[in-house]
Amino acid sequence: MWPENEYLMYLGIKMHAWILFFGACFALAFALVMIYVVTILALRKKNLDAAFVYMVYALARAAEAKEEGTGNHILRVGQFCALIAKTLGLPRQFVKDIRVQAVLHDVGKIHIPVDILIKPDSFTAEEWAMMKQHPDYGAMIVGSHQKLSMGRNIALTHHEKWDGSGYPHGLKGDEIPIEGQIIAVCDQYDALRSERSYKPAYSHKEAYRIITEGDGRTKPEHFSPRVLNAFKAASGEFEKVYEKMKDDSAAHT
Ligand SMILES: [Fe+2]
Repeated sequence: MWPENEYLMYLGIKMHAWILFFGACFALAFALVMIYVVTILALRKKNLDAAFVYMVYALARAAEAKEEGTGNHILRVGQFCALIAKTLGLPRQFVKDIRVQAVLHDVGKIHIPVDILIKPDSFTAEEWAMMKQHPDYGAMIVGSHQKLSMGRNIALTHHEKWDGSGYPHGLKGDEIPIEGQIIAVCDQYDALRSERSYKPAYSHKEAYRIITEGDGRTKPEHFSPRVLNAFKAASGEFEKVYEKMKDDSAAHT
């Protein structure tokens, strides 16, 4: 028989060991449950993000369905915008967002009659006035959801020009949001590189020259100076992206 005080000490040590054991089991179970919950939430967010991107592209494709032959135009413009944003040192999330949401720039064309969209000749004054409404229509379609605020700005301002000569609102300089300043150069570069009913496809060298030096119709003053500098710095990448994603597009921008 143990003396009473030694026996109580033995029981105390034993209980202490059991408490430690159950504590460790509880901590392990809690950690496993937390890992499971975090994994499920991350997968759910990934699926939601993928569905969001899918729907943005679906909306852009629906808008360009009337305009045959636009090919990869919207996809290339997204890639070009991401290149400029990266060159400007903008945050990673901005680069990611503009790559996707730039595809919405011409979504407002869904409201423009198809015979105007595919017209091979110059527009009449009335047709041109109608065409100039597509940025406002685009902003209206994209709406005011916070997650699509960049897409809305892009749809609304992609034809504004740094010197104030653009449309639909004649915004000038930094009145144009940075995403609008970026897409102006990218949309113009892609338009110059692509064949249109009223012009041939220009080489990279010629498109670069027109954007940086002007040709009477396009002028360097149309573009934000810092975006233009980023375009110059990234122009080699522009050429590679265009060559990789080129098609036989023919459409108005
Ligand atoms: Fe446009």
